[in-house]
Amino acid sequence: MTNHGAMTKHGGNRAVMRREVLAGLRVRPRAVPPKYFYDARGSQLFEQITELEEYYPTRVELAILDGHVDEMAACMGPGCLLLEYGSGSSLKTGRLLEALSEPVAYVPIDISGEALEAAVAKIAARFSAIEVIPLHADYSAAYEIPTTFQPARRRVAYFPGSTIGNFDPQQASEFLVEVAAVCGPGGGLLIGVDLEKDITVLERAYDDAAGVTAEFNLNLLRRFNRELGANFDLEAFQHRAFYDPDKARIEMHLVSLRDQVVEVAGEAFAFSAGDTIHTENSYKYSRERFAQLASSAGFDVERVWVDPQELFSVQFLTVRDAASEP
Ligand SMILES: C[S@@+](CC[C@H](N)C(=O)[O-])C[C@H]1O[C@@H](n2cnc3c(N)ncnc32)[C@H](O)[C@@H]1O
Repeated sequence: MTNHGAMTKHGGNRAVMRREVLAGLRVRPRAVPPKYFYDARGSQLFEQITELEEYYPTRVELAILDGHVDEMAACMGPGCLLLEYGSGSSLKTGRLLEALSEPVAYVPIDISGEALEAAVAKIAARFSAIEVIPLHADYSAAYEIPTTFQPARRRVAYFPGSTIGNFDPQQASEFLVEVAAVCGPGGGLLIGVDLEKDITVLERAYDDAAGVTAEFNLNLLRRFNRELGANFDLEAFQHRAFYDPDKARIEMHLVSLRDQVVEVAGEAFAFSAGDTIHTENSYKYSRERFAQLASSAGFDVERVWVDPQELFSVQFLTVRDAASEP
């Protein structure tokens, strides 16, 4: 295993975080980027969420993967370089790497240094023949794909977990354009995309009975207290999640339970009772709307696998040849 990704112990760039969080708190409605959920504790809480009965996305995506992994591997072809965006625990990737034919390297990209380090140790021990090159980076900013020992026949990206849903449609399109450029002509993308469905099922998935998602959401404030010198009172904010059918998205917020003033990095922010900080969107797609998005970003949809209840989809896209632009 080589390990020449820019791996540092503590996630992210503190100055960028301060700038982005302050900018998000100064405007109304207040919003902060969801990538800041993933400090070490946030990554652990996310793993707990994936095991909840209410949180169908991980369970269903794993079942789709288990049922069709050989077809997926056939689409990806032999000798590929596998790049994973937001790799987290790399649990799904382990199953994919088992099925792939002679992948030359695996490049997991994640903003959470702790999650990346733990996942890479497991994957490298399990797949000693594959070069594993972790990239501790923010994929919404600039990053460089490392060179591999062996040349790859093709670059294929993996983006499971419906993390694409955290982008609004414009950002999602820009992200896919970037992935198409990184993978290049002939490249591919295997992506997990959550589908529109019954509101009750959706809202339960983001507001579980045990309160793990609430803890995940509130952990942002704990992180800001620690890393940005903020003084949020975690008892004075409450988790709220709801589905907006017009925007086809789950919104997560932290709601101020009283009038209060909070300091973040030396700046004071006044909250009235009921004011919220918007912390995450999770867009849901119909198959048609996702196909349009992929197409507008330069991809062709080659295959779509769904579960019998059509809760979730895994899709294989290929970078469209510039000569065959529609
Ligand atoms: C919803 S979790 C999905 C984890 C895993 N891929 C799965 O399918 O279960 C999102 C993952 O993406 C990472 N992540 C979120 N925003 C990121 C960003 N801007 N750059 C790099 N990684 C990011 C998080 O640290 C986390 O591991």
